Amino acid sequence: MDTLIFATNNENKVREIRHALNNQFHIISLKEAGILVDIPEPHDTLEDNAREKSLVIHQLTGKDCFSEDTGLEVEALDGAPGVLSARYAGPEQDASKNMEKLLSALEGITNRKARFRTVISLIYHGKEYQFEGICPGVILDKKQGEQGFGYDPLFIPDGAGKSFADMSMEEKNTYSHRKKATAKLAEFLMTRHGKN
Ligand code: IMP
Repeated sequence: MDTLIFATNNENKVREIRHALNNQFHIISLKEAGILVDIPEPHDTLEDNAREKSLVIHQLTGKDCFSEDTGLEVEALDGAPGVLSARYAGPEQDASKNMEKLLSALEGITNRKARFRTVISLIYHGKEYQFEGICPGVILDKKQGEQGFGYDPLFIPDGAGKSFADMSMEEKNTYSHRKKATAKLAEFLMTRHGKN
C-alpha cells in the first residue's frame, strides 16, 4: 500500500482523508512519520503556504506527501483575513478574538459575502499538484451556534439557513471547503492508482 505523509498533526483531518480514500492508502501524520519540525507559513497566498509545507516535508523524507492551507476570504475586506485567518487578531490564534476583530471590521458594512477556501498541495512521484475547495456564504452580525471551531459561529454557507456552528459534522461536510478539496485529492489519487 502506498504511504503518503499528511503535513498535519490534526487527527480529525487525518481521519477525514483516510475515510475519503476508502483506507486504500496508508496516510500518516507528521507525528507518526517522526517529523517534529514546526513548518512556517511565511507567504501571502494559500497556494504558496501549502506548497512550502509539502516541499519541506518532501525534502526531509523523499516521500510522497501533501499539506493544506485554509482561509476565510471576505469580499468587503478585499479577501482578508485570508492567509492570516488563524492569526487575524494576533499570534495567540484565539478564535473569539479573531471573530471580534472580524465583526468590528465589518461594522456598518452591508456586503457580508465571504468564502472559505482550502488549497491542498500534493507532491506525488516528484511532481506538485494543487486542489482547491470553496464554500461561499455570508458573515453574520453576531455569533450563532456552539459546534465547530474557528469562524464557524459567524459563517452561514449559501443555501444552508444556519451557521456552521449550528451543524453536525456530517451536515457541515455537505458544504465544507475542506471536504471539497479533499474529494478532489482522493479522486486524483484513486485514478492515478487505478483504484477508481
Ligand atoms: P487551517 O489552515 O485549516 O489551519 O485553517 C486556518 C484558520 O482558518 C483556522 O485557524 C480557522 O481560524 C479558519 N478556518 C479554517 N477552516 C475553518 C472552518 O471550517 N470553520 C471555521 N474556521 C475555519
